[in-house]
Amino acid sequence: MTMTPSSTGFESGIHSNTEFAQSILAGLTAPQKRIDSKWLYDVVGSQLFDTITQLDEYYPTRTELGILRRHAASLAEYVTDGTALVELGSGSSTKTRALLNALTGLKSYVPIDISQEHLQDAACHVAAEYDWLEVHPVVADFTAEIVLPPPLANAPKILFFPGSTIGNFEIEGAAQLLRRMRRMSGVTAFVIGVDLVKDTDTLVRAYDDTKGVTAAFNLNLLTRINRELGADFDLERFRHEARWNSRENRIEMHLVSTSAQDVQLLGQTIHFAAGETVHTENSHKYTPGQLEGIAGQEGWLVRQIWTDADNLFGVAVLTPDSG
Ligand SMILES: C[S@@+](CC[C@H](N)C(=O)[O-])C[C@H]1O[C@@H](n2cnc3c(N)ncnc32)[C@H](O)[C@@H]1O
Repeated sequence: MTMTPSSTGFESGIHSNTEFAQSILAGLTAPQKRIDSKWLYDVVGSQLFDTITQLDEYYPTRTELGILRRHAASLAEYVTDGTALVELGSGSSTKTRALLNALTGLKSYVPIDISQEHLQDAACHVAAEYDWLEVHPVVADFTAEIVLPPPLANAPKILFFPGSTIGNFEIEGAAQLLRRMRRMSGVTAFVIGVDLVKDTDTLVRAYDDTKGVTAAFNLNLLTRINRELGADFDLERFRHEARWNSRENRIEMHLVSTSAQDVQLLGQTIHFAAGETVHTENSHKYTPGQLEGIAGQEGWLVRQIWTDADNLFGVAVLTPDSG
């Protein structure tokens, strides 16, 4: 196995506790209280997300994995000498294996994630399983500029962004990410997973499972804020809610205050009215045409959009439009 020497992974401008504190305070003092969904992923959050992916109600993971297993071999046309597979928000790198099994001509794998310990663990497992592959984990926030380890900056690259994580961005944010990735050098293809528009019941159940794992994932944010910022959220007085926003075509996760209450955070008193919510995640659902439109505007050609038989999920293959 080959891993970069650092025990923590290459760090590309990872957040400090100050950034976390500022982001949480700004969000909780806004008229609609909100928390950026990237903060859902501490060690416990990443583990809970993995449990979510195994739930019956959570169709996206098994569906996307099926699509990737079926089509990964056709991505070989984008692999040239020295190609790196660069994955945004790699989590446990579960879907990556479908690509690595099919694309044995790859030279290296660069998993990028904000959840440092989970990333390191996942990278070690991949490095142990694929002894022909160089693995260079990068701890980074992909909403900021990503700096890759020097030997990789100019290498040919396939970008991989599965998990419908692009759906966590508002449409303008998704466009910005596509624009930034278009500026990355050496990209031969960009493979993106998007969850497709479908009936509301299926969508809401995927984000509000009967075992309460998604609820625990959402509420873990408050545990994290209590632990890292010394706040005094009472978890018994908040509940998880998943709602469909038909105007924006998205599932929203909220934490609902079940009573009027005050919470102490970093020397400030944050008041919650009964029923008031903190908006913690968006998960936008796409149509293939909408994805094509946004990608086209940002300088990408859509080569393929693979879907499953039930049109639940789509995996798009983009290439840079140099015309
Ligand atoms: C929805 S999960 C998807 C995980 C995995 N790619 C999959 O398909 O199962 C989102 C992943 O992106 C990471 N993530 C979320 N926001 C991020 C950010 N701003 N920068 C880097 N990683 C982020 C999370 O830690 C998590 O591993």
